Amino acid sequence: MTEHELRVSKIENGTVIDHVTGGQSLNVLSILGIDGTEGSVLSIAMNVPSGRLGRKDILKIEDRELSQEEVDVLSLIAPEATINIVRDFEVIEKSRVERPSHVRGILSCPNHSCITSSGEPVTPKFDVLPTGVRCAYCGTILRENLAEHLAKPS
Ligand code: CTP
Ligand code: ZN
Repeated sequence: MTEHELRVSKIENGTVIDHVTGGQSLNVLSILGIDGTEGSVLSIAMNVPSGRLGRKDILKIEDRELSQEEVDVLSLIAPEATINIVRDFEVIEKSRVERPSHVRGILSCPNHSCITSSGEPVTPKFDVLPTGVRCAYCGTILRENLAEHLAKPS
């Protein structure tokens, strides 16, 4: 493909999440709570060749502008993601995802003795460390493959 071709067309208005770790875009959608039934136009390209990342995913969500707070949780599974807010076909704002200080309800704790696994109505909460996350209830630390610990959407 030449640089004059686009795999997915430009959008008029909305949010483009670019430079997502290859293969993670469905997890990104799940974290954002988007499953397609909302009816908004959504385009996904997966495992597209990228100079910087080798392979990347791109998500284009039309007619919706995601806030920095909404996208920061994505940094746990797509640390290189860039967020582009598009209005009238122009990128009017570009930012990187930043690690939040903690995340609630996004990840579940793998420790079976943790109160969050006990059937009690306790929302899992993790403190975000420089290189991993720590369960706020039992202290279990997760460093790798966080996507495998995503909580089931409620
Ligand atoms: N994009 C889009 N619709 C638009 C404008 C941009 O879908 N109307 C997409 C582009 O296809 C790209 C992303 O938004 O995936 C960022 O666009 P742009 O900043 O123009 O591209 P780059 O300069 O290549 O971005 P970066 O420097 O972040 O790699
Ligand atoms: Zn725990």
